[in-house]
Amino acid sequence: MIETLLRRPIRPRRLRRSAGMRDLVREHRVTVSQLIQPLFVAADPSAAGPIRTLPGIERHTVQGAVREARELHALGVRAVLLFGIPQFKDAAGSSNFDPDGIVQQTARAIKDALPETIVIADVCNCEYTDHGHCGILNARGEVDNDATVDLLVRTALSYARAGVDVVAPSDMMDGRVGAIRSALDDERFEDVAILAYSAKYASAFYGPFREAAGSAPSFGDRRTYQMDPANAREALREIALDIEEGADIVMVKPALPYLDIVRAARDRFNVPIAVYNVSGEYAMLKAAAANGWIDERSAIEEVLTSFVRAGAEVIVTYFAKAYASARR
Ligand code: PBG
Repeated sequence: MIETLLRRPIRPRRLRRSAGMRDLVREHRVTVSQLIQPLFVAADPSAAGPIRTLPGIERHTVQGAVREARELHALGVRAVLLFGIPQFKDAAGSSNFDPDGIVQQTARAIKDALPETIVIADVCNCEYTDHGHCGILNARGEVDNDATVDLLVRTALSYARAGVDVVAPSDMMDGRVGAIRSALDDERFEDVAILAYSAKYASAFYGPFREAAGSAPSFGDRRTYQMDPANAREALREIALDIEEGADIVMVKPALPYLDIVRAARDRFNVPIAVYNVSGEYAMLKAAAANGWIDERSAIEEVLTSFVRAGAEVIVTYFAKAYASARR
């Protein structure tokens, strides 16, 4: 046997000889229809414009967000994830559940102009609270879980009334998915889906986003609610809980440093799995490309492919538009 092998080597390279052959046998493909483009929308039009930490990404006005959604739609990107930058912040993040809040206005405008675009709203308080934490604080200055869940429910309902297709709680409070699901159902929003940020880690890679959204905590960090990067089993427990509570899609975030979690979740659960290719992952790649240290286009392809290979169906990425344009 060994002699046969030595004389007649097995030749996997046969299937790599040409672009056509490689295409034919490719195991995993990225499709534009699985991408979600995050959109930042500012209530104050003077806050609109480029974002220093996310080259190529902008803070939009409501009308700018509609234009962007239209361009995305034409490119085949049919899902957007909205982040609002409000004019006012307070301790309870009350501009978040204002029926005329920035996300509510934007959702209505996009759904009016482009009914087929899937509008997803991130549900969290950090952009809306004056202290920048994802929930409201108790007398000891800690994030109060159950009081925060009540606020998230209020916000999710107001987004549903504004016509979003999906709410995406990103706060990591316990029990919020179940609470949001039952409140939506009670108001006959049983068709509004929940994309849960289920395994969201306390990560250094959110830095550029916090500058974009003005949502950095004014004291402390998010480690009492976001997950410890060292924990894998706990991620599976969080995902299982969210599915039990009614999540339709579960998400792992960030993406690149946590592909082992994506794979483990894919092997265990039967709901769609999303990854969030976060701001720091985008910024690293853009910075290296701007310096001429890596080739941007092929690096993006490789990164997005790694998500599909790990088992994700849905990819939230700041590269969605650029990737879709390059595909044209
Ligand atoms: C809100 C939220 C954050 C991100 C998505 N939703 C920031 C955070 O948790 O601090 C990060 C997205 C990114 O970095 O691209 N809680």
